[in-house]
Amino acid sequence: MYTQQEEKRLYEQARQLLNNDAGNADDTISQIREVILYADWKYYVQSEPVLSDFEYDGLFKKLKHLEDKHPELVTGDSPTQRVAKGLSERFPTVSHLVPMLSLDNTYNAEDLTDWDRRCRELAGIDEIEYCVEPKYDGASVSLIYDHSNLARGATRGDGVMGEDVTANVRQIKAIPLSAPLVKQGITQVEIRGEIVIHKKVFEEYNRQRIAEGLSPLANPRNAASGTLRILDPSEVRKRGLNAILYHISDYTLEPGKERPKELSNHYGSLQWLYNMGFPTPAREMKVFRHIEEVIQYCSDFEEKRDDLPFEVDGLVIKVNDFALQDKMGMTSHHPRWAVAYKFKARQATSKLRRVEFQVGRVGSITPVAKIDPVPIGGVTVTSISLFNEDVVREKDVRIGDTVLVERAGDVIPYIVKPLTELRTGNEEEIKFPTNCPACNSELEKQQDEAAWRCINAGCPVQVVERMIHFASKDAMDIRSLGNANVQKFYELGLLPDIPGIYSIDWERVKQLGGFGEKSVTNLKQAIEHSKQQPLNRLIFGLGIRYVGETTAKTLANAVSHITDFYEWDIEKLLTLEDIGPKVATSVKDFFARPENKDMITRLGETGVNLVNEHKGNKQGSGELAGKTFLFTGTLNQFKRSDAEAMVEEKGGSILGGVSSKLNYLVVGEDAGSKLEKAKKLGTVSILTEQEFLELMG
Ligand code: IVH
Repeated sequence: MYTQQEEKRLYEQARQLLNNDAGNADDTISQIREVILYADWKYYVQSEPVLSDFEYDGLFKKLKHLEDKHPELVTGDSPTQRVAKGLSERFPTVSHLVPMLSLDNTYNAEDLTDWDRRCRELAGIDEIEYCVEPKYDGASVSLIYDHSNLARGATRGDGVMGEDVTANVRQIKAIPLSAPLVKQGITQVEIRGEIVIHKKVFEEYNRQRIAEGLSPLANPRNAASGTLRILDPSEVRKRGLNAILYHISDYTLEPGKERPKELSNHYGSLQWLYNMGFPTPAREMKVFRHIEEVIQYCSDFEEKRDDLPFEVDGLVIKVNDFALQDKMGMTSHHPRWAVAYKFKARQATSKLRRVEFQVGRVGSITPVAKIDPVPIGGVTVTSISLFNEDVVREKDVRIGDTVLVERAGDVIPYIVKPLTELRTGNEEEIKFPTNCPACNSELEKQQDEAAWRCINAGCPVQVVERMIHFASKDAMDIRSLGNANVQKFYELGLLPDIPGIYSIDWERVKQLGGFGEKSVTNLKQAIEHSKQQPLNRLIFGLGIRYVGETTAKTLANAVSHITDFYEWDIEKLLTLEDIGPKVATSVKDFFARPENKDMITRLGETGVNLVNEHKGNKQGSGELAGKTFLFTGTLNQFKRSDAEAMVEEKGGSILGGVSSKLNYLVVGEDAGSKLEKAKKLGTVSILTEQEFLELMG
């Protein structure tokens, strides 16, 4: 798609545009478009971001501004044109150029062997070349490109007619708005694929929804197909969908033009699309000549299914040669030249016995279904969160129901639905408590929230949960003070609240069974050590609602002493990056409460660090200012989190992946693809652990 040289040029072009324009509007517009297209491709097709969100948004705004000033320069394939005008109430129905068929399924080696035999009989040959690629679990779409431009996107519908979701499809940045098809002699093409959502994006999206008191979406598949049919394209844009295209169903050649040679087999056709910027499984496909190899590959792949960024529910095996495909044809339901190999189901049924109500750190009450233990995808599931009352009512689950449970990869298990046909009439409605199961205070529910909440700050479960969070690995990292110890000390009156961690009566602890001299020394040391933790960890550890690790870092970097926040109003908080009204209000409320101020004073008195010694480094001072680092492989000489903190202390920053923005890659044992990528780029300094330590002095 891009040569290394072009990538370098575009990267430099981006840097230049970020600083100043190309001179005239015409050139600047086309240069920004070129950079944005490249950045989208790197991000969505190659998963290797080259611009920060901030830089990307800056360029986008600049482009929008210039186009507003020069409407005559706006073209249909400009990235700004993804922002659609809005859709009508319902999507119009359109017919597919070629019906969208389904796939026949196989589940084991025997099924595949039978299928191979049938294929060879039909084809009339002994050996067939098969192409194997992942079966993506999302929502299928059909795209039409007319004279190189994306002209239509439609859902599968009933296979013959689908819904026209073009405006939404245009929001998916992996899908090019235009591609050099006419150059290849193709005037029109219909491409099939799957709209998917990254597992990480899905989880983060659900975390946010839960934090906002909304019910979470069921699984990545439902999230993708639901999003594709949302009526507001700007909402679709926010959800960060992705796409993978895996089949050319129809194309028209320009009269007199030769068919591109790549269009003689499936493998070639997907490489050809990939090279024009389309997101295809080009790098994931494998070609085999014997079904035994296919079977081996399928069973190896199933083991690795959780390592992929998207949900994959099987593999698809396709006859590679297009002429053979045509010869074999299709039934009314599926092509004879392709078959799906489905992985083991991750669904099971079980009985819902009872519902427990758990109190969270910030007081929200979560109903948790207790089911008869059932193995799904390698783990035994016994408890499933039902999130909140709305979810329970929506699904109409009842105690005694047989429920269908799904566990998609590393995504947490959830109840798909109750099997109402199996009801006996003895099932009971799930009753929500009116009082806190821990402290009995009356529960409250805010208008725009789905969760009931216990607002008693002294509620024992909340107090314990807050201390556990304070001591947790990503907060103050007091490892030896695990959940069980916090609970025990609290119950014995040895640990009343967070500052109490620093004045535990050790003599009494020693008298408790199970605490030897050594374990007490270790505990004391870990607690003592935590006093020196950087301010961001303390802020995160305080458990302010909506303040995660990243926000805590932003907050810590903005002040020199934690008490500075006593003077900050909402407007000032809103000036910080990525802090919106909800977070700002929560932070303001937290620091306004006398009991929280008192807690901070007491923490300071025991010697806990309340200052940000490195204020200013983020703004560009420090010996590593502007330098970027990434750690990969197993590190033996230091902990990754310590090393990252060291870099940040010196003003450097940590990147999430290898890209041309990366300066240093520190490699431990068994470093894999990141090291490869860095070597390929040629611009990254590769350091051993020892070299890194030397660099740090
Ligand atoms: S080929 C005629 N390839 O699975 C070609 N389908 O259960 C038919 N799917 O409707 C499709 N990944 O939505 C094909 N690599 C892949 C696929 C794939 C996912 C979906 C597709 C199809 C369904 C059939």
